[in-house]
Amino acid sequence: MEFNIKSGSPEKQRVACVIVGIYETRKLTLAADLLDRISNGFISDVIRRGDMEGKLGSTLLLHSVPHTLCDRVLLVGLGKEREFRAKEYREATRAAVRALGQTASGEAVSYLSELTVKKHDVEWMIEQACVVTLDTLYRFDTYRSKADEHGRELRKLTLAVPRRSDLADGERGLARGLSIAAGMKLAKDLGNTPGNVCTPAYLAETARTLAADFGAETKVLGREEISALGMGAFLAVAQGADTEPQFIELVYRGAADAEEKPLVLVGKGITFDSGGISLKPGEGMDEMKYDMGGAAAVLGTFRAVVEMKLPINLVALVPTCENMPSGRALKPGDIVTSMAGKTIEVLNTDAEGRLILCDALTYAERFEPAAVIDVATLTGACIIALGHVATGLYSNQDSLARDLAAAGEEVGDRAWHMPLWDEYQELLKSPFADMANIGGRPGGSITAACFLARFAKAYDWAHLDIAGTAWKSGKDKGSTGRPVPLLVQFLQDRADIALGRTVRRGRPRRDAHDTHDVHDAD
Ligand code: BES
Ligand code: MN
Ligand code: ZN
Repeated sequence: MEFNIKSGSPEKQRVACVIVGIYETRKLTLAADLLDRISNGFISDVIRRGDMEGKLGSTLLLHSVPHTLCDRVLLVGLGKEREFRAKEYREATRAAVRALGQTASGEAVSYLSELTVKKHDVEWMIEQACVVTLDTLYRFDTYRSKADEHGRELRKLTLAVPRRSDLADGERGLARGLSIAAGMKLAKDLGNTPGNVCTPAYLAETARTLAADFGAETKVLGREEISALGMGAFLAVAQGADTEPQFIELVYRGAADAEEKPLVLVGKGITFDSGGISLKPGEGMDEMKYDMGGAAAVLGTFRAVVEMKLPINLVALVPTCENMPSGRALKPGDIVTSMAGKTIEVLNTDAEGRLILCDALTYAERFEPAAVIDVATLTGACIIALGHVATGLYSNQDSLARDLAAAGEEVGDRAWHMPLWDEYQELLKSPFADMANIGGRPGGSITAACFLARFAKAYDWAHLDIAGTAWKSGKDKGSTGRPVPLLVQFLQDRADIALGRTVRRGRPRRDAHDTHDVHDAD
């Protein structure tokens, strides 16, 4: 699949399909209007008949529009013009790509990307178009003996920018979009790969390949080295499985100053979570192959950052193992000693994510990090709290939480700031050890985060609970690639700050103006 950036009139495009937007109340966008004029009102006639009202996400395919050079015109509903924002733009783009898939168009030119979305520039418009398009076209066919029939696939999509002077910005946005999409694809592929293939060793191999392809340093520790470091909590989870645990470390030095403090990402890499001796119920247990979604997102983000050559220093850490029951497995009531020296009474072996992460968080101290962000499919309780819409966001530093939330908002990969108050810490008390590994059902996502916070006191730290956002159940079952977009945006913002730039693009500003807009909308 190839992308192009172009500025030029829609009526002059000699291509299988031209995509233009229609606002609700049947108002034509500039590109639709140009096609309408050249065709002596063909488009407005169609619209007047009532088959396309401009409702967000609706589409109508027209063939052989008079006096145009294209075979087809795809009309895409944009919703109300005054309400056309980032979310609507992404939704319309997604609808266009889906509708295009129902045609035999191998090539298309989209004029949706030259629309204006409040607070966002051309670079962002193109980046988002590219990310949404590749996300929509994503398929995972690796394990089918015969690939699904999807009709003729889109080979080339040209994205329009308003002016020739916008071409350079557009190209920059495209490069960013391609890197983000490739990072998301890596994360999705890893998540979707079954647990009998995507093992700890497989994740380690993926990291090595990544480092070799893009120029980063990698180190992978096996059981003995993990043991020598004193990672007793991590090892305890791994001890029931027949696969060897791996501790993956990737280092990228992109900052002008190689000694600059790095940002550290930590990803939960449970390649299958059976629950261990506290065995999970059988129904839906297959989905626990996605329990390495944090690791996948961290590797995907790392790939994007290194490909984009962001001027930051970045470390990725992935503790990875299986959580399995066996005669050797960790048992409820066992007490383990973490790398930090703190003892943990394991009341439920299914609360294993925090056990492998706590040792990785302690290990992270050696990098003297500027900040550490861990990413984990940590709790079912987070899905109860936030559903599949927002990632749970926790931090010991409010400004870090704010930056992460803003980054997610910018790219439509949202996270919601949750509390880490002391009252919740009480719930982790154990009669026999420094702490228990569970805090009971109430506030389950919060107490899990509180557990991690105890191991992250040496630096600014944030935790993303992606249990609800890293994958989808149901008929569209599969990995989503989240929160790669949020993380890449956050790191891009950090790079911008390091370069002395003010953070580049439209941020949700909380000023009087904004409130006014909201009330003003009809
Ligand atoms: N990997 C799960 C969390 C999870 C559950 C992710 C469902 C996605 C969907 C985690 O290891 C786990 O089992 N957590 C337990 C914690 C409990 C025992 C305190 C949970 O959420 O039930
Ligand atoms: Mn579990
Ligand atoms: Zn788990």
